[in-house]
Amino acid sequence: MNMDPTAFVVANTEIQNAALLPEIRLHLASKDMALWQMSDEDRLEADMPLPYWAFAWAGGQALARHLLDNWEVVRGKRVLDVGAGCGLEAIAAAMAGAASVTAVDIDPFAIAATRLNADLNGMDVDTWLGDPVNDLAGQPPDWDVVMVGDLFFEQPLARQLEAWLRDLLRQDVKILIGDPQRTYLPREGLENVATYAVQTTSDLEDSDLRNASVWRMVRD
Ligand SMILES: C[S@@+](CC[C@H](N)C(=O)[O-])C[C@H]1O[C@@H](n2cnc3c(N)ncnc32)[C@H](O)[C@@H]1O
Repeated sequence: MNMDPTAFVVANTEIQNAALLPEIRLHLASKDMALWQMSDEDRLEADMPLPYWAFAWAGGQALARHLLDNWEVVRGKRVLDVGAGCGLEAIAAAMAGAASVTAVDIDPFAIAATRLNADLNGMDVDTWLGDPVNDLAGQPPDWDVVMVGDLFFEQPLARQLEAWLRDLLRQDVKILIGDPQRTYLPREGLENVATYAVQTTSDLEDSDLRNASVWRMVRD
């Protein structure tokens, strides 16, 4: 298959709104979930990881909703969205008046989706294909706010991510996390900012409704 990521995203999604975000239009997988159910063989042939970018995850929706309702959180700030997926939090930050927004993801399909979705909403979002946790460890931060939407679902990644975020926090970067109580969400050093009931699908999650919270990382 080996398709251009942008063409692949356009061909395999429909323009929709995530449940909590009527003001943001997104290229998302259609209801039949064919994209998610693609065989491993087809994905390997397309050189494509699991299509996380084709869904607006509950944690990302909560974070994006919080920004759209509280512009002051990011207004005038330099914002980095880590693990952007379809780019929903990055787009919300741009809508809320961030001075600059960079969306980073390790998946080229996520970068393509984020670019398409930012354009669709007329928002200026820079994209970066990379792994900030490894690529930027130990470097001085270039951002005022670092956001993470729904990324605490795998233990090794969660551990590395938390260590890097704590390092940024010590350098006075504001850290915001959107998360529906994934298994490896840190249990300490987080302050609850807001909680939303997010409609999701039981094909992806274990229920049709999940409570997702926005957390601010605080010093121990
Ligand atoms: C569950 S999705 C969440 C996407 C989006 N934030 C949301 O809430 O809808 C996780 C995303 O993180 C990306 N990702 C995983 N590990 C990463 C890493 N080390 N650096 C950057 N992105 C990563 C994946 O490719 C995927 O797009």
